[in-house]
Amino acid sequence: MNKIICIANQKGGVGKTTTAINLASSLAAAEKQTLLIDGDSQGNATSGMGMTSNGNNLYHALIGQAQVNEVILATAIPHLDIITSNQDLIGVEVEFIHIEEREKRLRNLLKSLDKRYDFIIIDCPPSLGFMTVNALVAADFLIVPLQCEYFAMEGLGYLLNTVRLVKAKLNPDLALGGILLTMFDPRNLLSHRVTEDVKKHFGEKVFKTIIPRNVRLSESPSHGLPIILYDIKSRGAIAYMELAQEIIEGGL
Ligand SMILES: Nc1ncnc2c1ncn2[C@@H]1O[C@H](COP(=O)(O)OP(=O)(O)O)[C@@H](O)[C@H]1O
Ligand SMILES: [Mg+2]
Repeated sequence: MNKIICIANQKGGVGKTTTAINLASSLAAAEKQTLLIDGDSQGNATSGMGMTSNGNNLYHALIGQAQVNEVILATAIPHLDIITSNQDLIGVEVEFIHIEEREKRLRNLLKSLDKRYDFIIIDCPPSLGFMTVNALVAADFLIVPLQCEYFAMEGLGYLLNTVRLVKAKLNPDLALGGILLTMFDPRNLLSHRVTEDVKKHFGEKVFKTIIPRNVRLSESPSHGLPIILYDIKSRGAIAYMELAQEIIEGGL
């Protein structure tokens, strides 16, 4: 199987990292062999999983200083491994300026993993730069989290245009897996309006599962725990487990 899913949106604070951590954990809880890749130099997916990035990390694998197997770490969750990141990744774009096929570095790394994982989830930084392009080139599917707020769809055209370019030139197999509405607040009229607008625009491409705004979800990273370990009964945990089911059953 080995389905590679990239979580991207160049806007910050829309729920990319929260989705990467909790979707990966929920897939693992459903006994799918899963690898979470932290593709952001801020290392939020790393710390949110309670990991640190002291030794070799994604950067060392990308520049060829380490084998991909040497940068994969086991997490506290059975069936879930991680490749961590930290500030090392900041320089990678500049360091790669003269390297051939630099957009394919991550893709080539992941190829060597063969069929070890059912799902590989890549958390992207808030930009359309080197790491996001590498993730799009490596991925089979893209998930775009959209926060249920004003201007949710603003800037989306740039992302979808980048996807078109990547599809045309570097990865014809890339598909839009779905738009994921996040931080939905049922008491807020705006949340309902944004949901309607997004569904009007993207129709079937919007995941049925909508992630609610949930305090437990925002607390869990500071404890270094995915939501299913922090509070499995919370609405946030239930929503991410439903998303994992939707993805498994929908055949992403
Ligand atoms: N569904 C949610 N409910 C409440 N808080 C959330 C939710 N999703 C994300 N957050 C919080 O919002 C902030 C931004 O989320 P994050 O996943 O880090 O976004 P991104 O990776 O896109 O920048 C974080 O503080 C996170 O804990
Ligand atoms: Mg993030």
